[in-house]
Amino acid sequence: MGALYSLFLVTVLLGLLCRYFIKKFSYWKNRNVPYVKPTSIFGNLYPVLALKKTIGHWLQEQYNECNSDYFGIYAFTQPMLVIKSPTMIKDIIVKDFSYFDNRTVVINQNDEIMANLLFTKSNPSWKRIRSKMTPVFSSGKLKLMFPLVLDEAQHLVDLLKQHHCSRPTEMKEIACKYTINVIAKCAFAVNARTFENEHSEFRELGRKLFDPRLENRLRFFVARFFPGLMKFFDIYLVNPKISRTLQDIVTCVLHTRKENTNAKEKDLIDILIDLKKSDKSEDKFSEIELIAAAVNFFVAGFETVASTLAFILYELCLAPDIQERLREEIISTVQGNDGNLTYDSLSDMKYLDLIILEGMRKYPVLPFIDRRCNSDYKVPGTDLTIEKGTAIYIPLFGLHYDSKYFPNPEKFDPERFRNKTDLNCDGMYYIPFGSGPRNCIGGRFALMNMKIAISKILLNFECVRVAETPVPLVYETKSLVVASKVGLPLKLVPLEKLLF
Ligand code: HEM
Repeated sequence: MGALYSLFLVTVLLGLLCRYFIKKFSYWKNRNVPYVKPTSIFGNLYPVLALKKTIGHWLQEQYNECNSDYFGIYAFTQPMLVIKSPTMIKDIIVKDFSYFDNRTVVINQNDEIMANLLFTKSNPSWKRIRSKMTPVFSSGKLKLMFPLVLDEAQHLVDLLKQHHCSRPTEMKEIACKYTINVIAKCAFAVNARTFENEHSEFRELGRKLFDPRLENRLRFFVARFFPGLMKFFDIYLVNPKISRTLQDIVTCVLHTRKENTNAKEKDLIDILIDLKKSDKSEDKFSEIELIAAAVNFFVAGFETVASTLAFILYELCLAPDIQERLREEIISTVQGNDGNLTYDSLSDMKYLDLIILEGMRKYPVLPFIDRRCNSDYKVPGTDLTIEKGTAIYIPLFGLHYDSKYFPNPEKFDPERFRNKTDLNCDGMYYIPFGSGPRNCIGGRFALMNMKIAISKILLNFECVRVAETPVPLVYETKSLVVASKVGLPLKLVPLEKLLF
């Protein structure tokens, strides 16, 4: 009798579970939206969970398989709408932004620092902070930070000369050290000394933040796909020890910083303090928001720039003719400025611009843009109404490798961007920094850092492919940002004649 009773209970339970999944997985079908059939209780997400694909390449695969302007998928039971049409993308992230002003990730409010990042904040507080932080990266402010970054690039070259000429250099690691030094100097006003000390505090913090260990991946997945659980189980987006250390560093800098620094070079802390002081509004920056701003620069600004920089140098080592042509441009620009790399001369290097555009096409290191719909939205020119709460994903690998927009997409071809005056004209399909009011606030700072580092490296070294350089590239499926599985080893051979 007992066994029969248990069997009955199990059958009922299984039946209820089946009903639950059938109901959840009917969301797109019931709305007549083309969709990719879910294959398990994980929805369509199994290849990512099983580490067979990165999220970016998983989205790209679905993008290539679906012919419609948009289609539905499921992450576990959560319906996600993936957008392919450039006009729809423009509508969502630019024109009708007011319907899509937040990202999909949800942060537990006890996680004080992470909940105050510009990246994770929701409206209306996002808008308030964004408008206060926008001036931080104006041309005038970037010009003030330029000497700090140039110093770090010179430091990078000096150390490369001492340590890395005879053996292959792991470019991603070197680039990380450079960008950590830059952010630590610019956002935290400290010398991170990552080159001198392999285990410097900032390098260790960076490693722990982006380490693809299971703990980090779980936090990321819960925040993205099970937002309700963040609060319920008091889960933090990053290990609280890391955010506490970052918070302590900024607090310490803020408290020791003199009321007024008259130094010509201004770091971000100065700029943020000035902003706070000159802000006469009722809702001025709180201390925690100011700390979170500096922390956000670190979290968003070192791994992204380092990865892009390393991928570009990797492509240059595979294409010596492009590398040589770029070097010639850099040399002639520096010669035209009395042997100096100046802030203004960065914008004279048009071929460098093309190379960075192409590098960011091939390697969109944050491989998707996401938004959550905040009230029902009728998509112009279609029968589709996106319901409040729907998660929207824009797959950058799909768009950036679509031969309709970029013929022969696997080829690293900077020339494809020359005379491309119609880029993103009728809609958006090239958006490595996102677009619209919620685009990357640090894009111009990132470009400055990359241009300085590439110029300094090419003036001093030839980037050479070695046996260990991975061709073709295999992506690390555990990584939180786009990364090569075996790193990006290449050789930096000092130029015989030192140029500058
Ligand atoms: C090559 C380097 C970088 C890439 C590829 C990159 C890419 C992106 C992307 C794709 C977004 C989302 C945009 C959107 O949703 O429309 C973003 C947002 C953001 N990025 Fe960057 N980023 C880079 C460097 C930086 C740097 C250096 C900083 C700061 C120092 C920074 C700070 C931010 C912040 C704060 C946001 C959130 C903006 C908001 O929600 O208002 N990023 N970035």
